[in-house]
Amino acid sequence: MENDTIEDARAPDGDRLERVPKRVMSGNRPTGRLHLGHLLGVLENWVRLSERSETFFEVADLHAFTTGFADPQAIRDARDDMVLDWLGAGIDPERSIVFLQSAVPQISELHTLLSMIVPVSWLQRVPTYKDQIEELGPEIATYGFLGYPLLQLCDIAVFGGDTVPVGRDQLSHLEFGREVVRRFNHLYGPTLIEPQPLLSAFPAVPGTDGRKMSKSLHNTIDIADDEATTTKKVRSYITDPLKIRRNDPGRPEICPVFALHHYSNAARVPEIREACAAGALGCVDCKSELAETLNAYLRPVRARRAAFDRSRVNAILQAGSERARAVAETTMRAVRRAMRLTDT
Ligand code: TRP
Repeated sequence: MENDTIEDARAPDGDRLERVPKRVMSGNRPTGRLHLGHLLGVLENWVRLSERSETFFEVADLHAFTTGFADPQAIRDARDDMVLDWLGAGIDPERSIVFLQSAVPQISELHTLLSMIVPVSWLQRVPTYKDQIEELGPEIATYGFLGYPLLQLCDIAVFGGDTVPVGRDQLSHLEFGREVVRRFNHLYGPTLIEPQPLLSAFPAVPGTDGRKMSKSLHNTIDIADDEATTTKKVRSYITDPLKIRRNDPGRPEICPVFALHHYSNAARVPEIREACAAGALGCVDCKSELAETLNAYLRPVRARRAAFDRSRVNAILQAGSERARAVAETTMRAVRRAMRLTDT
């Protein structure tokens, strides 16, 4: 399993993405601690992108309100943890603009202006709208929730973001956003940039139950877990149900523990595959080795995370949001002019 470098990331039509993005924009809702799936699938890619492009990373607190409006304190608490996880992963707040969505009012202004030209039917057609209502219940069907993809487009467009690293589940939001940009530019003249998604080629990281690692499934290994907790969680992983005794031959290709060895213990993968399939390696030993290598892999991330004092997060977000506002204001001047709200 190869990493998702920008070279092997693919545009949705299967084309190789060869240009180096100028402005990369992405974000995450503060809903809790981040896990190994985020680290491998998202954050490592963000760090790589930040080495060669201008990067904007957003704490999407307004988006968190679309479903979590009844518990604002949970959103506030999750913010610090999420930023610390980013810093631990190696996001450098000097190099990247790390900011808080609600602290950049230009995003909300753009949202209001664009809402005038977006047909409600476009928003209702975005598949996540119906899916999420089915999953979370009709009470989340607020006006703001309907507008979720429009707010996301505003996050990107207000910074002139040309490239958006996202998961497959976000492609419909990007496609919607591109349509909105085309409509704006058609009505008022070329002003906004059509953002391109950058799909990660990274495979889903399996959680303790073998399903995709996900906070809502309670099957995660968290970045901020300590080593003993990580070891305990690794021990709880499901393995091949037909491998009951130590010497039964296993089927590594269906085993989530085997899949995880690729990330922290890649050099040993061929030997582990062979030994498992031959019935020479038991699951207990296999898990011990995984726990050790995973902890070794996570150690520098956790150390970096722990080196940041929680009280620094606010200062980082304040400084980042100030830089973000300056860029956003430049775009908004052009938008206001294009819409004849201002004369110059
Ligand atoms: N909707 C994204 C998610 O749930 C989070 C997000 C908010 C985002 N604003 C963004 C992602 C802008 C990319 C660009 O993962």
